[in-house]
Amino acid sequence: SEGEFRFKVVLLGEGAVGKSSLMLRYVEDKFSPRHVSTIQASFLSKRLDLGDNHVDLDIWDTAGQEKYHALGPIYYRGSHGALLIYDITDKRSFEKVKIWVRELQRALGETAVLIVVGNKLDLESERTVDRTEAIQYAKSVNAEYVETSAKENLGLADLFEKISSLMIDK
Ligand code: GTP
Ligand code: MG
Repeated sequence: SEGEFRFKVVLLGEGAVGKSSLMLRYVEDKFSPRHVSTIQASFLSKRLDLGDNHVDLDIWDTAGQEKYHALGPIYYRGSHGALLIYDITDKRSFEKVKIWVRELQRALGETAVLIVVGNKLDLESERTVDRTEAIQYAKSVNAEYVETSAKENLGLADLFEKISSLMIDK
């Protein structure tokens, strides 16, 4: 196959799991150790070449704080893909992924590609969410599973290539 694609991808997950960090590291190769809570949402674009396919990704980073939860639909509506992000050292953030998955499946049906993302892989020694459990959960909801570190730039290129390929094939 060969072509030009434009896809919308939304980043969802609890506050402080690293959504903004993932996007900034991937698009601009920047990382800050500070947490500046996103207000409402922000947006960056990135062009990717996948063999003969060219993909423009419009990446929407949302605000994870609970008080912004109700804004979710504004940003996930019309998305071709969603990254459901949690922090591997924070069990509560994994439970929040499950809430977002249920909401997305209700709102979008099976139209979007979902990837569950365990971030902060550099903090492996502090992990509290078992990888096998997360993989099994992702499989049970027809989602892919990937682990990343925005800090160490691990897994990000693979993550965005994977979601792009899946959106092309959908
Ligand atoms: P909200 O905007 O409030 O929803 O948070 P967010 O999910 O965008 O989190 P953000 O990217 O602001 O990161 C929160 C904190 O985690 C910051 O202090 C980051 O530096 C840190 N962080 C993000 N990714 C990683 C990572 O891969 N490893 C480590 N060790 N810290 C990370
Ligand atoms: Mg943020």
